[in-house]
Amino acid sequence: MSSDEDVAAASRHTHFIGKKENIIQARRVVKSVGERDVLVIYHQGDFYAIDVRCYHSGGPLQEGDIEDFDGRTCIVCPWHKYKITLAEGEGLYQAVDPSVKPLKPSWCSKGIKQRVHTVTVSNEDVFLTLNDSPGPIDSDYYQTEKYRNTFLKE
Ligand code: FES
Repeated sequence: MSSDEDVAAASRHTHFIGKKENIIQARRVVKSVGERDVLVIYHQGDFYAIDVRCYHSGGPLQEGDIEDFDGRTCIVCPWHKYKITLAEGEGLYQAVDPSVKPLKPSWCSKGIKQRVHTVTVSNEDVFLTLNDSPGPIDSDYYQTEKYRNTFLKE
C-alpha cells in the first residue's frame, strides 16, 4: 500500500472520542466506534483503548481495577479476575514450575487475547484508530451484535 493509501485507510478508521481534559477527568469512557464497543482509559499519564468486553466470557472491563503485574499495567476483569495488559491486550497468568524448588510463581503470557486500539491526541482532541488487523483475536467474539446489545444498554 502506498503512503497515501495508508493515510486514507487510517483516516477511515480514526474517530473523534472527546476532549482530552474530559477524558482525563472521567478516566474511563466507553464508546461505540464503528462496529466495536471500546473502552478508552486514561491512567498515569497514558491513554489506552481496548475492547470493552473481556475475552474470557464478556465481562465488563470498564468496571475492572487497574494494577501492575510483573511491571506491566493491566486491567483486571471484575468477573473472574483475568489480567489483561492495557498496552498489548495480552492475557497474563501466574504459574509454578514444580521442578524448581522452592516453588515460586512466575508470570506467564497466554498471548494476545484482547484487541487493543490506538489512541492519539491532537491539540486538545482525542482520537481512536481501530485496530483492524486480521484476527481472530479472542475478544472479537464479544463484539458481535448479540453481545453489543447486552450490558452496555442495560
Ligand atoms: Fe473476564 Fe471471566 S469474563 S475473567
